[in-house]
Amino acid sequence: MSKLFFYTRDQFFNFKSDQMSAGFEFLSMSKLISSQKIESLEVSQQYYVDISSIVSFVKYDDSQLFNFEQLFNSFGENISFICDKVYEKDIKYIFRYIFDEFSDVEVERDEITDEVQEISVKESSSVKKITDLDDAELDLFFSKFDEGLYGHECFKEEFKELVTSFRVFNKLGEHKILSLFLMGDSGIGKTEVARTIHKALGSQSKLAKISFGNYSSHDALNSLIGSPRGYIGSDGGELLKRVNESDVGLILIDEFEKANNAVFNYFLDILENGKIINSQADEYDANGYIIVFTSNITKENFTSKISPELRSRFDYKGVFNLLTDEDKKKFVRFRVNQIITKYYQLISEDVPDKLYDTIISEINVSQFKNMRDLNKKIKDTFVANIKP
Ligand SMILES: Nc1ncnc2c1ncn2[C@@H]1O[C@H](COP(=O)(O)OP(=O)(O)OP(=O)(O)O)[C@@H](O)[C@H]1O
Ligand SMILES: [Mg+2]
Repeated sequence: MSKLFFYTRDQFFNFKSDQMSAGFEFLSMSKLISSQKIESLEVSQQYYVDISSIVSFVKYDDSQLFNFEQLFNSFGENISFICDKVYEKDIKYIFRYIFDEFSDVEVERDEITDEVQEISVKESSSVKKITDLDDAELDLFFSKFDEGLYGHECFKEEFKELVTSFRVFNKLGEHKILSLFLMGDSGIGKTEVARTIHKALGSQSKLAKISFGNYSSHDALNSLIGSPRGYIGSDGGELLKRVNESDVGLILIDEFEKANNAVFNYFLDILENGKIINSQADEYDANGYIIVFTSNITKENFTSKISPELRSRFDYKGVFNLLTDEDKKKFVRFRVNQIITKYYQLISEDVPDKLYDTIISEINVSQFKNMRDLNKKIKDTFVANIKP
């Protein structure tokens, strides 16, 4: 068993230069991932090995813990261990059989400090959140939301109640993030829910969207939160990048069922604590955010795929059904109008008489089970009818 020293971000460089003048060498644990590498260290040299980079790995994927416990046994007496203090709580528990003593390094703080943090993560207060709206703004939000999303009336009712309660309990500090888990067939408006919230919050930026369909399930967590400091190509991960690019408090997680257990646990943490932390230990306060998760899984698979702890943390879980023919017709009328107006303004004022009525009469909405197909039908019918 050995001792572990914690340093804070603003102590590290002073600490390192002090200790190097005293003859120590510094290494990241990622350089020593096998016991041969550990054996190749000089016995007469004193080393500090920084284990910060392995914390996020082991925290979300504890299948590696066994290997690490074994690996630590091969270290000699000439090695001391250090770690970024942000990991203190996690590491004291995760590595409880490796370290039996912990203390903080004793050193003055570095001079250039906070600037670094400010660049990497933007202030969450500059972002427009549902919890920030006043009553008039909230009414406007709901009317834009209702207008933008066709059908799904029950969901809309429930969403209104959820938001109302969220705004209260968020202020009381009891409800950090409003989470919606939407299931159902393709092309019926699950992702559209997030797009509509995004517009209704008045965003001028891109929607913060992560799609697990784009990641291989194997290293989904790394793509999401970046690889740990010290690894080749280490970065801050896609999640914080997307969140930083957006001006509203909304995150869309598409095809969530394609992620893996490490990712599920990671989101469990976010929903619980309201904080997004990446592998570089950048921390973002997501208090007041809405997170929309979408998935094509059935109700039955939902129970087998997603752990009960995570399931119980979603504020809304629901299966979206196909829109009624009446709602599909509303959608068609809106789209046809929109297309004709744009065409008239941007391309030509020479529009055939009764174009709108013709297109509407040629589309039988009951044939369509996917709104994408219906949208394509609208486009095709439009093009066929403006041909001379
Ligand atoms: N209820 C709806 N209101 C308005 N537009 C809708 C609605 N449902 C679907 N659409 C339209 O259909 C397109 C497809 O819907 P959406 O992207 O939400 O599908 P999805 O349910 O997320 O499907 P997938 O599982 O394939 O991702 C959207 O771009 C949107 O134009
Ligand atoms: Mg979708």
